Amino acid sequence: MVHGASSLPLSLPRGTGARDGAGTPRALLRQNTGFPTETPVTAMTLLSDQMNLHPDQLGAYWMPFTANRQFKAAPRMVARAEGMHYWTPEGRRILDGFSGLWCCNAGHNRKPIVEAIQKQAATMDYAPAFQMGQPLAFELANRIVDIAPEGMDHVFFCNSGSEAVDTALKIALAWHRVRGEGHRTRLIGRERGYHGVGFGGISVGGMVANRKMFGAMLAGVDHLPTTHDLAHNAFTRGDPEWGAHLADELERLVQLHDASTIAAVIVEPMAGSTGVLFPPKGYLQRLREITRKHGILLIFDEVITAFGRMGAAFASQVYGVVPDMITFAKGVTSGSVPMGGVIASSAIHDAFMAGPPGAIELFHGYTYSAHVLACAAGVATLQLYKDEGLFERAKAMAPVLEDALHSLKGARHVIDIRNGGLAGAVELEPRPGAPGARTFETYLGCWEKGVLVRQAGEIICFAPALIVEESQIAEMTDTLRDVLARVA
Ligand SMILES: Cc1ncc(COP(=O)(O)O)c(C=O)c1O
Repeated sequence: MVHGASSLPLSLPRGTGARDGAGTPRALLRQNTGFPTETPVTAMTLLSDQMNLHPDQLGAYWMPFTANRQFKAAPRMVARAEGMHYWTPEGRRILDGFSGLWCCNAGHNRKPIVEAIQKQAATMDYAPAFQMGQPLAFELANRIVDIAPEGMDHVFFCNSGSEAVDTALKIALAWHRVRGEGHRTRLIGRERGYHGVGFGGISVGGMVANRKMFGAMLAGVDHLPTTHDLAHNAFTRGDPEWGAHLADELERLVQLHDASTIAAVIVEPMAGSTGVLFPPKGYLQRLREITRKHGILLIFDEVITAFGRMGAAFASQVYGVVPDMITFAKGVTSGSVPMGGVIASSAIHDAFMAGPPGAIELFHGYTYSAHVLACAAGVATLQLYKDEGLFERAKAMAPVLEDALHSLKGARHVIDIRNGGLAGAVELEPRPGAPGARTFETYLGCWEKGVLVRQAGEIICFAPALIVEESQIAEMTDTLRDVLARVA
């Protein structure tokens, strides 16, 4: 925080941006704070001036996964959050139907998490993660292992879901190599899978827009077919009956490439980002059988499904299928500080613990692996989930969300509704010649009426925090019903 900067005029003149000349935010900060001109001062957006961001100040930030020009012509800003709500800078209250971005599972700004972060920030800001440790990293790893599926006993930390995926893929390749099977180099993902935006993640991922701009990606990757098929599964409550046989496509890929070339299969137990797709009954079990039979590792990408979303700590437990590795992120800190990680079985971990004890076993890690603020947030978050029984609460509220969502059957444009745990989706008929337009207008309409949902292509997605009340679920679905009645 730049002390004294609150005297910055609330409205900055046109033409400001990241430059540093006269009249720019930095120059104004200097004038107003008395910093000598040679002191580098960063223009900061203070809480007090968020209401007054000028359109010219919006250019410097190149926003991720956003239609930048459209957004900047009519920004949707939030400035404060608490519990189930956001507030816009003007003070309008927005009901958060999406846990931020699938991450604030305990609700926003929960006191125990906020206090843990504040306390840690004042105690030790950073500790190196390589060849050194800090107690909270070990505590968090132990707590994650305590609630993980049996036999998943080791945690490797990173900072995001994308990093978690790349870490898991690298561990898979290295594991085969340390066991003398370095010829297993192929990775298998799934069409419509989302595994983040690293080169590993987009290679095994199956979302065309995320892949087509970025070259050839990793070599030796193949994909299972998507399980999403409305001809068979429209308006299913919970997991679809149809589609387990699609796991057998893995046998076809084994025939094609030979098992000896395949290192791992990665799938999301429930594919969230691509539109909330639940696994057909028996599908994940079948994948487990086939991977085990052929010595192929199975990775569940639980970046969205971990930490209560499906009504248990991990989706793996809901489905009774134990993979070899689980990736996680988001809910581990309830979105409060970036963190991700990989949970590995003992069989994976222990294979690396050979060779001279002084040798580094895995040449992989990040400056911010197990960042101490994230660890503090993570420990407090897991404690909060436990104290408030939030995973059980998610399970208990799942039928409420199911009924509310399926009450939209028959609403205009709706061609499918699906749900499981505290996640659900309403798929709309695309407007002819304008893919995504109707759904985007629906998303905007909900925002204007005070409810945050998520648009994924032609799909409106719901993933409220695990503290959601019945009346709030009704508010979300009633709002969507109203908006659908008006959207062309
Ligand atoms: C299943 C899955 N994997 C990976 C990611 C990437 O996570 P991040 O955005 O934290 O890199 C996501 C993000 O939504 C995800 O849903």
